[in-house]
Formats: sequence, structure tokens, C-alpha cells
Amino acid sequence: MAQGQNLNADQLFEKINAAKDSKSLLKKHLTPEIFAATKDKVSKFKGTLADCIRSGCMNPDSGVGIYASDPDAYTTFAAVLDPVIKDYHNVTELNHPKPDFGDTSKLDFGDLDPSGDMIVSTRVRVGRSHASYGFPPVLTLEDRVEMEKNTVKCLAKLTGDLKGEYCPLTGMTKEKQAELTADHFLFNDSDRFLREAGGYNDWPTGRGIYFATNKKFLVWVNEEDHLRFISMQMGGNLGEVYTRLVKAIKELETSGLEFAKKDNLGYLTFCPSNLGTTLRASVHIKIPKLAADPEFKKFCDGLHIQARGIHGEHTESVGGVYDISNKRRLGLTEIEAVQEMRRGVEAVIKREKELSGK
Ligand code: ARG
Repeated sequence: MAQGQNLNADQLFEKINAAKDSKSLLKKHLTPEIFAATKDKVSKFKGTLADCIRSGCMNPDSGVGIYASDPDAYTTFAAVLDPVIKDYHNVTELNHPKPDFGDTSKLDFGDLDPSGDMIVSTRVRVGRSHASYGFPPVLTLEDRVEMEKNTVKCLAKLTGDLKGEYCPLTGMTKEKQAELTADHFLFNDSDRFLREAGGYNDWPTGRGIYFATNKKFLVWVNEEDHLRFISMQMGGNLGEVYTRLVKAIKELETSGLEFAKKDNLGYLTFCPSNLGTTLRASVHIKIPKLAADPEFKKFCDGLHIQARGIHGEHTESVGGVYDISNKRRLGLTEIEAVQEMRRGVEAVIKREKELSGK
């Protein structure tokens, strides 16, 4: 249960104001004027400012510190969300382009590491939200169950290699859960930021994971977002991974699901850090030399890529293996985001080889 559940917007605002060393974007952009102008607004899905800021106020060490209570929050609470979005995504204007996945039959990239020495695995994911449901703070148990049911019905329409089966978390054995987590397939309920935002309400009801039979395409249902589509495989073949994801997105778009979108913001997600393309393309890559270099972070920043540990966000690296991904998701098209990641990974490989004297 979220600890700040019973606090109202004034009490939450007081908390974040008292947290003098908070560096969150929420703290920076929720000025007293903007607070006063938004605190009594209610979105179409009955979302409130308190729903949006609860996590960030209760966790002053947040980086972002705000979630959208529902798709309409991006309109109702734009006075605070817009500046956070601009700041996080490092853009001066909100003019996200129309989706463009490129022509996957003519990609100019394939395997980024044909030697197979450095890239362990490759993954590309996007987030999608149902246009007709709010996000975790405003969802009821019944909503979650209904959403899951509608989703599963549409997932069953996937064709060819994307065909598979849905495994609800409810009723899944502990052993099965542990196994799927170790294989990087499954999510859990351990993120305190998400918990405080209501992300684990009614856990595990309504959550689950869809696997294509070959395990190279997955859908997370009601993790942080209503939907996360994930294409992944061992090795460095970004071309194959991306092509599979685009096929899945196109099939699911016409399967009866309607996704939440907004002009100039792209696809809407629970966290403003993910909206736009919502696309994160990543590799798990062995880079012991570069990772030990004091310039590592600066090197990544310069290429618009981000390094994380391999067990997800806020985790540490294990054995010099890092998760490298595109940092930008807004203000560029899907194919541009993937190309940015590709160029970054190529530069990382080149640099690691130089540092190893190869
Ligand atoms: N709310 C957390 C923070 O502000 C996480 C933000 C980004 N991560 C995410 N999974 N949405 O630090």
C-alpha cells in the first residue's frame, strides 16, 4: 500500500517543499503558482494533482517525481507536466512528430556485433496505454480485470512467430516467477517509486505476461504501463529485433485496441519520461574497460545513450555487463530513436576495443 495514500495535495506539497535537497523535476517545476492553479483540477478520469505527485513527494530522491494519473492528466495538469516533460527530454518545444517506424524491409543495420564477443542480448520495447482507461492511481480492481481480459483477447489475434500464450501473475508459482525474473522476462513489485504512485494496487490482479512461443516477443500487461511490447533475443541482431517489434505493433494496432495519444506528445504513458515514441532499444554488452573509464558517463551522454545495470532500472552492473539504451524518446521518430541507439552502441564497441588495445 502506498504510504501517502491519505495525504491531500496540500500535505504532499508541504512534504516536497520541506525536502530541501530534493533534485527532482517535480520539485523544480511545481512552483507555488502552478500548484495553486492545478491543485483543485480533476481530469476526465477523476485523476487529481495529488495522484500525479504522490510518488515524487513521498520519495524526494526521485529523478522525475511525477506520473500522469491518466491520459487526460497530460491536458488537465499540463501546467506542471509540460515543463517536466521539456526538462526531462531536453526539448524547448513540445512538437513530437507523427509515428514513423521506417521501412523495415530496407533497414541499413542488422547485427551490431557479428563476432558475438560483446553483445549478450538485444531488446527493443515500447509502452502503450488503452485510450479508454486511466492509469494506476485511478484504476479499480474491476478495471484491471476488464483491461486484462480485453488485452488478452487481442493478443490472441497475433500471427506467425508472434503467436503465443498469456500467463497471468495471479496463481503463478513462486518458482515460476523466480525463473522468469532471472531470465529477465518478468517484472516484480519492488519499485518504491511505482508503489507510491499506486502502481502495485491490487497486485497481482490484472497483471501478466504474454510470451510468443519462441520467447522473442513478450507483452507485459499492467506492469508500469497498461502494455509494454518487448522484442528480444540473444546476440546483437538489432535489425531482427526491431523488425519483429514493428510487426507486433502494427498487428496490435489493428486488433481492436485503441492506444492513448496526444498531438505533440505522441503515445502517452504513465510516466512522462517514457512518452513520445516510448521506445527504448537496448543491448546487454560486456564493456569492462570502458565502464572502468572515468569518462564513461560523459561518453554516453555525448551520444544520447544511457548505461544501466542489467537487472533493470536502478540496478548495478554485474561483471562489467551494462545495459546501454537510447536516452531520448520524445521529439524524434521511432526509427530515429533506434538509429540513435545503434550509433551509440557502435561507438561503445569501437571505444571498448581501443581501450583493450584491439
Ligand atoms: N518516478 C521515478 C523517479 O522519478 C522513476 C522515473 C523514471 N522511471 C520509470 N520507470 N518511469 O525517479
